[in-house]
Amino acid sequence: MKLAVCPGSFDPVTIGHLDIIRRAAGLADKVLVVVMTNAVKNPIFSMEERVDMLRRVTADLPNVEVDAYDGLLADYTREKGADAIVKGLRALSDFEYEFQMALTNRRLNPQAETVFLTTNADLMFLSSSLVKQVASYGGDISEFVPAEVLDFVIEKTKG
Ligand code: PNS
Repeated sequence: MKLAVCPGSFDPVTIGHLDIIRRAAGLADKVLVVVMTNAVKNPIFSMEERVDMLRRVTADLPNVEVDAYDGLLADYTREKGADAIVKGLRALSDFEYEFQMALTNRRLNPQAETVFLTTNADLMFLSSSLVKQVASYGGDISEFVPAEVLDFVIEKTKG
């Protein structure tokens, strides 16, 4: 793979996302992590905050760049000339929706293949929504989000 795109809402980035980004960086010459809008989610972090968090946690990965795009993923991959969309699959419950998106994206831009990486078994349970829920009740999220953004996520999710 030459240019891979890792899209997501990253609200906030978790160690599960970071695991997928790192593994994608090992497979592709260059990875564009792109913060996008998920029509069915209401983010609590602004686009800029999500980009900033991603930049901080990927600073040690020289072939990773972070971007934001408020439009269709298929248009973004076409504009950038990407040959792959890399996504993490946690469990069977992710599959149907991801499968639908992959087929739609392929129809809209056949040049970019969707590649699924299976999540690290230890991180199967992890999601941004659960991180926000646990943090909003003062629970410990230090194992769920990268250390560089922990304080910021705690501050932002405080009631
Ligand atoms: O992290 P998420 O919320 O699971 O990521 C989903 C995301 C943002 C990648 C998806 O909603 C998306 O691609 N949004 C951009 C708009 C788009 O292209 N929608 C059609 C998808 S087939």
